Amino acid sequence: MRQGTMRPRAQLFVCVNARRTDDPLRSGCGDAGPALFAALKRETLRAGLATELWVTATACLGHCPRTGCSVTLHPRNEHWIEAHEADAAALLRRARDAEDER
Ligand code: FES
Repeated sequence: MRQGTMRPRAQLFVCVNARRTDDPLRSGCGDAGPALFAALKRETLRAGLATELWVTATACLGHCPRTGCSVTLHPRNEHWIEAHEADAAALLRRARDAEDER
């Protein structure tokens, strides 16, 4: 392996995991995650931040909310639950704050 040259200043992981509605662990983040992920990607591209602020779709983050989806922000080590597409701007602000703190 070799180390890549890209170094994001912050990274948002958005859970897009979907389960069957009758799953004992509930349906997961599949209802809200993809829309929030798409909104965050769109906004980072629009702001010209795509190389510095990475937005990554991921599987289960281990804390499955009853509504919305889970999001983590690194390097802040923050975990957000019950997030929806409407939260994209707020999450982006948090991520940009993380950039500024470095
Ligand atoms: S399914 Fe999203 S955190 Fe578990």
